[in-house]
Amino acid sequence: MNRRIVIIGFMGSGKTTVAQALAQRLGCEMIDLDSFITESEGRSPAGIIEEDGESAFREIETRALREVLEKTTHQVIALGGGAWTIAANRALTTAHDCLSVWLDAPFELCWQRIQSGGNTVRPLAPDRESALALYDLRRSTYKLAKLRLEVNSESTAETLASELLQRMGIESKNSSGNATREET
Ligand code: S3P
Repeated sequence: MNRRIVIIGFMGSGKTTVAQALAQRLGCEMIDLDSFITESEGRSPAGIIEEDGESAFREIETRALREVLEKTTHQVIALGGGAWTIAANRALTTAHDCLSVWLDAPFELCWQRIQSGGNTVRPLAPDRESALALYDLRRSTYKLAKLRLEVNSESTAETLASELLQRMGIESKNSSGNATREET
């Protein structure tokens, strides 16, 4: 598979774990854009937003995405929840012929995960009301993704990765490392 996959969706939709499951099934490398930013900037996205504001973070995020797309060969990329809402980032993924995949998770599930997020601080979702407003606002942009995967409380990263590969008609590796063709 040559086409890179970009996983998008709201905070708590499961982007990182699905990207990890996908990369494992495909036997390729994944990268989480927020982790890449944390490593290169020495601060987490939340820390940058809190210290320098959201627009400063968005500039860093776009630079980071460009770097990942231009200078690395990671086949699966998990974006932060707001990255897809920036037109320049969508244009970058189009220019690099990425397949964008939206994890469409219900708000309550995302909110539950945001609240139980442990160490993950989310300054843009400080309370339920503002998180819901952002969730509603972003849906129309998330809909621009090429593929939509419906997420519910029963979904696991593995079932979602499997569903995506089936829909793409792609071969994946089973647990013993043998190639298997996903049946549709
Ligand atoms: C953000 C989501 C976060 C992180 C930053 C901003 C957003 O990533 O990039 O706090 O605007 O939705 P996750 O979606 O992985 O939580």
